[in-house]
Amino acid sequence: MSSTYTHLDFDVRDRVATITINRPEKLNALNDAIIAELGRAIDDVVARTDIRGAILTGAGSKAFVAGADIEELARQTPFEGRARSIRGQKVLARFDDSPKPVVAAINGFALGGGCELAMACHMRLAAETAKLGLPEVKLGISPGYGGTQRLARLVGKGRALELVLSGQMIDAAEAYRIGLVNRVVSASELLPTADALLRQILANGPIAVALCIDAINRGSDMALDQGLALEADAFGLLGSTEDMREGLRAFLEKRPAQFGGR
Ligand code: COA
Repeated sequence: MSSTYTHLDFDVRDRVATITINRPEKLNALNDAIIAELGRAIDDVVARTDIRGAILTGAGSKAFVAGADIEELARQTPFEGRARSIRGQKVLARFDDSPKPVVAAINGFALGGGCELAMACHMRLAAETAKLGLPEVKLGISPGYGGTQRLARLVGKGRALELVLSGQMIDAAEAYRIGLVNRVVSASELLPTADALLRQILANGPIAVALCIDAINRGSDMALDQGLALEADAFGLLGSTEDMREGLRAFLEKRPAQFGGR
């Protein structure tokens, strides 16, 4: 199963899908149509057996995504705004929930919904030129695609409050310092670094990777004892896989493991 897209480029190369939001003339701002296509794209990543991980990036050199489409926001009624927020949150949650790793390659502005989308990915790499922020309050609105929740979980409540309440933009170096992005690289190295990181992950047992994503995601919203129980279940469940037998045997036989995802 695979979809065709109007606003995204969706390329698959040797098990890695690169999803590029392609609306550079509007700095890749997220209108409703793009949000809907992003939902289909992540569903494709999860469903397609020829894809094991994904990179999400923006077209052009200026922006990853400069936010939700302000022209659409300007027309919404309160109930439409609430529905738009819930729709966007649900799509972004599908990135977070993907059992296959997703890396955001932040190639420029990641503002508002763009920063929120990057935070819904499992890892974030930023070009040195990237700028991040949640400037919604400057428009008299609040983040609506998970920003108030995911930012506090990533960088802590105090820093999240400062960024959300001031609406200030920070550069990539500051985003790295506070833990909002995992790494900062030159613009030319951004996609190759994202690809190399994913390939490092894809060499590992895919079922183990999927269960680790689930344990970290769900566990971070649980009390420690519940999270530890979830971890023990994952650890035990992996004992039923051929991958575990292959991984342990390969170590003892001093050879690289060949995981089949079974
Ligand atoms: N929604 C809709 N259109 C947007 C947009 C958004 N979030 N961000 C940028 N654009 C459009 C601009 O309106 C402009 O369109 P036009 O050429 O038809 O006038 C085009 O993208 C280029 O943006 P521009 O503002 O001219 O680029 P810049 O380099 O001067 O400034 C930014 C770049 C990112 C600082 C500026 O575009 C900006 O502040 N964008 C909004 C960021 C924001 O508040 N996001 C949160 C939204 S909830």
